[in-house]
Amino acid sequence: MTVEVHGGTLVNRELTGTERENALNQASSLKTVEISKWSISDLELIGIGGFSPLQGFMCEADYKRVVEEMRLQDGTVWSIPITLPVTENQADQYEIGEEVALVGKDGITYGTLLIQEKYSYDENKEAEKVYGTTEDAHPGVKKVYEKGNVYLGGPITLLNRPDHGKFEDFYLDPSETRKLFADLGWKTVVGFQTRNPVHRAHEHIQKTALEAVDGLLLNPLVGETKSDDIPADVRMESYQTILKNYYPEDRVRLVIYPAAMRYAGPREAILHATVRKNYGCTHFIVGRDHAGVGDYYGTYDAQDLIETVEDELGIGIFKFEHAFYCEVCENMASAKTCPHDKEHHIHLSGTKVRELLRNGERPPKEFSRPEVADVLIKGLKK
Ligand code: ADX
Repeated sequence: MTVEVHGGTLVNRELTGTERENALNQASSLKTVEISKWSISDLELIGIGGFSPLQGFMCEADYKRVVEEMRLQDGTVWSIPITLPVTENQADQYEIGEEVALVGKDGITYGTLLIQEKYSYDENKEAEKVYGTTEDAHPGVKKVYEKGNVYLGGPITLLNRPDHGKFEDFYLDPSETRKLFADLGWKTVVGFQTRNPVHRAHEHIQKTALEAVDGLLLNPLVGETKSDDIPADVRMESYQTILKNYYPEDRVRLVIYPAAMRYAGPREAILHATVRKNYGCTHFIVGRDHAGVGDYYGTYDAQDLIETVEDELGIGIFKFEHAFYCEVCENMASAKTCPHDKEHHIHLSGTKVRELLRNGERPPKEFSRPEVADVLIKGLKK
């Protein structure tokens, strides 16, 4: 089964070889826009087609309809604005129709942007509609408020990818994962998003889904996350460890999702599913409080929202109840499968787990595989 690309065609806005060299030479005489790590990850995802059908940073008509109705101007489902923010002063330096170089704080030119539009926007409205709150205690909303208040819109070209360091081998483009699945003979593939180490509950829902499909794409997000989340390099070690010890080698692939985390809960669940469709997954897992933070979203809000667009999205959603280990069942379970009282269920908050790990203690084995706990303890000591 070949999965359709969102919007029809896999976007490729990356230049290579002499075309790239020429473009980089030209870019050195263009005006520059300094872009954040967050924007670099958006640029990369547009360039490699992860954000297909987007060809660049959103212009106003797309932006407004995405914020209001979760759709691009042409009606295609899209849940999160993908925008390039600058300050008003910066924006005044650029003309409409001008091509500019997109340069990181490290001085590297990551790409170029043909400015089609510059527009101001209502940050409170964006916060309320996309994140469901205007409180700046929400890490995604805080980012919205910190950004410049003008967006530059237009098509991009990707000229340099960010340094992928020692995990380079785990970066595959959507065209490459699609080929990989075909080579493996996987007709159905479930994608799994996470910004955390894989705990027993994750393992349980992944493997339950895997009973119904040919393969699992473990697709951890490694772009910017909030500071108390476990760092990506430590997580990457832990993923390799759990796969080696507890998963069948021929049924799982670990591939990085190089995006920034928005913590936008239900809206972000839709973005996560859309991108995994572009990577070639036929199915996607949405469990409890997907992409949530604090108490901003109800446990199953993400499942309810994605259900409203699931048919149009064209990727099957596996929805899972809150999973836990039950001491009486001696098994992973959920309210759908376990009749016992809560006191028999093993619950640990993320904060509690991090505290244990930082003190060099393994969480209970019913919560986390000991091999994973050891990698995390070691990684957090550094
Ligand atoms: S996030 O990227 O969605 O924020 P997280 O690691 O918390 O990452 O969760 C990854 C996926 O597993 C999400 O779909 C989430 O809903 C699901 N999930 C996490 N913990 C549980 C659990 N205990 N029971 C059911 N689903 C869970």
